[in-house]
Amino acid sequence: MTRTTLKLGELDHYTLIVRDARAVADFHTKVLGFRPARIQLVNAGSAPIGSHDMLNHVLWLPGSTERVMVVTEGLTEDSIFRRYLEEYGAGVHHVAYAVENIERALGELRARGVHTTSDQILRDPVSGLRQIFLARAHCGYFLELIERGESTEAGTFVEDNMAALANTMQSYLTPAEQPAALHDPSVKIPRPIDEVLAVMADPFRLPHWTGHRMIRAVDGGVVEARMHGDLALSVVPDATGVSYTWHRDELSKTVRIAVTQSPDHTQVSVELSAFPATARAAIAEILAVELRALAALVEDQPERVSSADRDRLDAWHLELHQRRGL
Ligand SMILES: [Fe+2]
Repeated sequence: MTRTTLKLGELDHYTLIVRDARAVADFHTKVLGFRPARIQLVNAGSAPIGSHDMLNHVLWLPGSTERVMVVTEGLTEDSIFRRYLEEYGAGVHHVAYAVENIERALGELRARGVHTTSDQILRDPVSGLRQIFLARAHCGYFLELIERGESTEAGTFVEDNMAALANTMQSYLTPAEQPAALHDPSVKIPRPIDEVLAVMADPFRLPHWTGHRMIRAVDGGVVEARMHGDLALSVVPDATGVSYTWHRDELSKTVRIAVTQSPDHTQVSVELSAFPATARAAIAEILAVELRALAALVEDQPERVSSADRDRLDAWHLELHQRRGL
């Protein structure tokens, strides 16, 4: 008895990993008739906050306004793309096909023993774009299933999804040297706990110590303005810390900052275990900067924030402002 095949939709895009994305894109546009769609820079996690480790030239296939080729180059030594290139050479990395219902497609494939590079489907909360890679072992390249929500146009990609998908390839690469163990970011402020909590619990002071700068009162609530739409923000203090929750539609994200009182200072800290493992190093770095700025603010010494920290906070603000997810 023959089994029915999956109902795969049309080709959506394919992606090359190369050493020089611009040269490869130029060849395709100037010699082969592809048309440039856009250039997209992403930080998949190996570059500091505010910079990028992935360069993508997105090109329309000749004669098409729906299908693209993505030419990807890793911009840092440690980026997953550079490491992939060193290990497997340049060429086609994956081919993506549209599916109408990614969960159903995946269920059918898993029932036939097909493996994926991540357990979860990667989903962009704003656009509804959903993606997953089938394991390389099946065909010698990765196959991507992609379900575009109504609000994602053909040929567009979401940075967060691109970064998350890329990170599902880690197991294919020889492990890089393990980074030093990360410590939970914390700061000691020589002030009573009430003074520290009063500053932390005031949403309108966030712009003075974090990258969350566009905070406004709207209809009795508080919002953070972002390029792709406002997020509702609730700030809830209690005796042992402050919880910050951002909402959009049915989605929410909470960050908790804990405070503990000692005889001569208040300790402020954040547990990194609450964040996804791949994001912890970058988050630890920016939280350390924010907590130093908080201490300077509580102690009324704003000039103590170094120009390097100010630059990091500026970059962090820009990244948050342009983010599509929460
Ligand atoms: Fe893709």
